[in-house]
Amino acid sequence: MRRVVIFGLQWGDEGKGKVVTYFSREFDWVVRYSGGSNAGHTVVYSDDTKVINHLVPSFDIRSRACGYIGPGVVLDPLELVKELGELERIFGGIGERLKISNLCHVVLPPHKEIDASIDVKRSCSLSTTRRGIGPALADRAYRIGLRLVELLESGSQRKMEEYSKDLKVLYGVEWRDYTTVLEAVERLKPHVIDLMTSKRLLEESSILFEGTQGVLLDVDIGTYPYVTSSNCGVTGIEPGLGFPVSLDERLGVFKAYTTRVGAGPFPTELPGFEGDELRERGHEFGATTGRKRRCGWLDLPLVRFANEVSKTTGMILTKADVLNGIDQLRVCVAYKIGGRLVEVPSDLSVLERVTPMYADVKPWQDLRDPAFEKFVKFVEEETGVPVRYVSTGPGVDEMVAR
Ligand code: GDP
Ligand code: IMO
Ligand code: MG
Repeated sequence: MRRVVIFGLQWGDEGKGKVVTYFSREFDWVVRYSGGSNAGHTVVYSDDTKVINHLVPSFDIRSRACGYIGPGVVLDPLELVKELGELERIFGGIGERLKISNLCHVVLPPHKEIDASIDVKRSCSLSTTRRGIGPALADRAYRIGLRLVELLESGSQRKMEEYSKDLKVLYGVEWRDYTTVLEAVERLKPHVIDLMTSKRLLEESSILFEGTQGVLLDVDIGTYPYVTSSNCGVTGIEPGLGFPVSLDERLGVFKAYTTRVGAGPFPTELPGFEGDELRERGHEFGATTGRKRRCGWLDLPLVRFANEVSKTTGMILTKADVLNGIDQLRVCVAYKIGGRLVEVPSDLSVLERVTPMYADVKPWQDLRDPAFEKFVKFVEEETGVPVRYVSTGPGVDEMVAR
């Protein structure tokens, strides 16, 4: 049975949703194992129908694939009900094709409140998505967090009351409005399964794991503290699933340039006019928050790092069409700080001070232009990883194998 992961090689928003949907047609299951509704995965179908998945795995609604939200995902019941309502409105619903682990920790309204208030008060603001992801995972670490399984039991009201007491003690936050959350959980009940059921269903099936965020936002190996709070890289799969799994392929998605939403170092960032031009060309606005994405040139030391720690077997290039007809095109091949540096420094204060060393790349008019093929070969040589597919536009079917 085939097991493949598709994950981000940069700071998120590489086009994972589109790519996962394209490949989902070859799989029984698309599995989310990390993150929560901080993810915003855009899918544009051939008839221009557009959906943005935050929690629902990005399986092609018109294929036979199903979706599973594993225990590693922090699940906001209100958001998921909203998302299912949107799929109902657009496609007439997805019926039984979504399963959710009963071990998912839930994101509650106070988590979002705490997320926003901590982010502005702390010494270094991260500009989080305010989706309550960090606080929900912190509650899991404190072992006061609630999982779906607790909210589906008869004692759910009492569990909520106990949780409220802990909230008051830990954060000084009052919260008593349990009804809307319990109603949402009740609506999700038909989709919820336990760990052994998920193991039986998945072990006999082909699985496409859908990464969220990107390796550089991984809590352990990313640009800490400017990261998300989960293992959104490849290493998050087993804890996020609850049992071991061996992968046949690890496919990393990267854009032909770099973007980042929120705070943190970004060596190749183009502030001002050039960055604005890239943003306009690529419509680089957050799929979850609508915020402007910071834009800059492709940073190969970062992509190389992400590939090495992920043992990437192949890459998928997206958004190269955004650069069609651009006047000038640059790619960072190394950093300078004192001498030449090809590896990403783990000390963030060093990464903040490096100067990118650029190679000028011949721009292309369109993706059939030999200059584009030359660029792809250059990236392959610099990273040592083959580019297996090129995404040629936002549409799910706009994809070419190499
Ligand atoms: P994700 O979080 O990795 O799924 O990416 P997002 O959905 O947040 O952002 C990617 C954006 O780029 C979305 O608006 C996609 O529709 C769009 N997109 C994806 N691939 C391509 C591509 O190859 N070309 C163009 N022009 N747009 C793309
Ligand atoms: P997808 O899956 C881009 C960023 C936030 C912030 C930091 C921490 O669509 O690629 P959090 O809310 O997770 O505590 O915020 O991480 N971030 C993302 N940036 N794409 C995402 O997801 C992101 N999810 C979180 O902007 O800098
Ligand atoms: Mg996104």
